[in-house]
Amino acid sequence: MNKLLLKLAFISGVVFLSSCGGDSDPGYEFMPNMYRSPSLETYGENTITGMNALQPVEGTVARGHLSTFNYDGTLDGYLAAGNSAVNPFENNEKNLADGKALYGMFCEHCHGATGAGDGTITHAIYSAVPHYNDAKLNRRPGVPMNELKAGHIFHAITYGLNAMGPHATQINEDERWKITLYVQEELQNLGK
Ligand code: HEC
Repeated sequence: MNKLLLKLAFISGVVFLSSCGGDSDPGYEFMPNMYRSPSLETYGENTITGMNALQPVEGTVARGHLSTFNYDGTLDGYLAAGNSAVNPFENNEKNLADGKALYGMFCEHCHGATGAGDGTITHAIYSAVPHYNDAKLNRRPGVPMNELKAGHIFHAITYGLNAMGPHATQINEDERWKITLYVQEELQNLGK
């Protein structure tokens, strides 16, 4: 019993003494970091994690800078891409199958399963979806759809054209090339 009283007296003594600060003394703080968190600026040096918002994350590709295709969204960029861009993906079964699946996800609803421009989307805005084998109508390079080069197709997917929106954010670079391969090998050749 005496021991218990002694303990209680000691604890109250500690509490009593620790509360004897001036008005500006916060007294005993439990986890002071919770009250006074360190202030870090977004673009300043981060002393806690060492991470720095000034530096892009490793492996980041700057917007508009692709590793296999660097042509801008202008007509000149489009024509230059048609002249020189080369599809880095080899024409094999696997790449064609991937391209076909991606085409089914991202293009078919407008361009149709056989590329005839007869997808399920029938809104008037998309009434002029071109036929991949329509040899009548000349496109921007002065050739019909079935003679568009890989660079033209990749450019159209990346930057879009009028009612066809750009697909650069939805479809990554490799996937765009696979779709291009499929369009060139299968759809552009259907009527030939
Ligand atoms: C929302 C409907 C829509 C989707 C989705 C779409 N397109 Fe198009 N696409 C169009 C329309 C409309 C045009 C005609 C634009 C024009 O001539 O003004 C077009 C034009 C094109 C052209 C011709 C560009 C040129 O240089 O003349 C190509 C190539 C093409 N699309 C490929 C694709 C591919 C590949 C996909 C899938 C990644 C795709 N499109 C997805 C509607 C679409």
